[in-house]
Amino acid sequence: MSKISIDSLRLLSRLSELGEIGRGGDGRLVRLAASDTEKLGRDTFVSWIEQAGLELAVDRIGNIFGIWRPEGVSDEAPLMLGSHIDTVIDAGIYDGCYGVLSGLEVIETLIEAGFKPSRPIVVAAFTNEEGVRYAPDMMGSLVYAGGLDVDTALATVGTDGTRLGDELRRIGFDGEHEPGFLRPYAYIELHIEQGPVLEREGIQIGAVENLQGISWQRVTVSGDANHAGTTPISMRRDAGYAAALVVTFLRERARNSNTPTVATVGCMNFEPNAINVIPSRVTFTVDLRDPDEDRLKEEEAALDAYLAQVAKDEGVSFNVERLARFQPVTFDANIVELIEGAAARRGHTVRRMTSGAGHDAQMIARIAPSAMIFVPSLGGISHNPREKTPDEDLVAGANMLLDVVCQLAGGDN
Ligand code: GLV
Ligand code: MN
Ligand code: MN
Repeated sequence: MSKISIDSLRLLSRLSELGEIGRGGDGRLVRLAASDTEKLGRDTFVSWIEQAGLELAVDRIGNIFGIWRPEGVSDEAPLMLGSHIDTVIDAGIYDGCYGVLSGLEVIETLIEAGFKPSRPIVVAAFTNEEGVRYAPDMMGSLVYAGGLDVDTALATVGTDGTRLGDELRRIGFDGEHEPGFLRPYAYIELHIEQGPVLEREGIQIGAVENLQGISWQRVTVSGDANHAGTTPISMRRDAGYAAALVVTFLRERARNSNTPTVATVGCMNFEPNAINVIPSRVTFTVDLRDPDEDRLKEEEAALDAYLAQVAKDEGVSFNVERLARFQPVTFDANIVELIEGAAARRGHTVRRMTSGAGHDAQMIARIAPSAMIFVPSLGGISHNPREKTPDEDLVAGANMLLDVVCQLAGGDN
């Protein structure tokens, strides 16, 4: 059991510093993957990796690694810690950054404490976890785990028409290493919960045992533009109305289902987008999630059937494009137990839980035993500037990560 603790001031001040990088004049924090602002965040993270004396590596999809390769164990499979530093639009400062900076903090603490690990320890910041600019989300870790070909991923065209590969080159993060070049012995991701469960139950630590399935689709509705004043309601092929029906259907179905299914329409664009013109075309996204794969399939099928019904009733047509599809993931039972034990030894309350959000851990779980540690999110708020975790919970989570690393890296502590 570890008697050492992380340097909480260093961790918290880095979190605040990174949280100001990419904040515009309007006060909004935006570090979309491979953007100019994300480059500034990456540069700062790299400077901290170098300051800690770690070996820096960047792979072809732009994942950044800080590697501590102590003499005598450099050939062993590394223990990997990580998350992401890209953000959503108008983000909070904790999502992803907390896990990355805690990983770095744990390694620095161990180096300073003279810890002798049995294997290298690596901190990773994976590219484009959020998937806001380029779909799918968790892209860097997905490529790293071999779930998506790197050249296909680099050719992805973003919401702004850019190509990910061009943008990574432009910001200087088109690395040389092949994704997957370090096969982890195990992977641990520390993250804020981003939901209300821990706070509501007054529990300090979540030992995450599974993560729900995610289905992302982009739906395009085609109707006819026509005059808003002269076209009788019965003669309209209104793409906007059809889209509204689908939004309502998803919400009502999820609400009435008595299951954990969640459904979100987060983007919608109207054409021609004029007050006095019936919309001819609407594009919107659908984010469906459920911890049960069969139920997620059922939800997708129900949506398909409803689109066919609306097409018939409203005289519109639908085109559906899949943006991401990930099955639910079960994390490594032994690591989940280690997390529970470590929490008990630090005197923290702990519960097992399911992650509602997507995380890089769900991709790395394809190639290495993986699990996650959660700390509470006040009000369950995330993907929002009001995202907040109290400092003492952040420090407790990072110390938990430290203890689990000590156990998994098997050193003489
Ligand atoms: C990642 O933040 C997700 O959409 O769950
Ligand atoms: Mn995240
Ligand atoms: Mn996120």
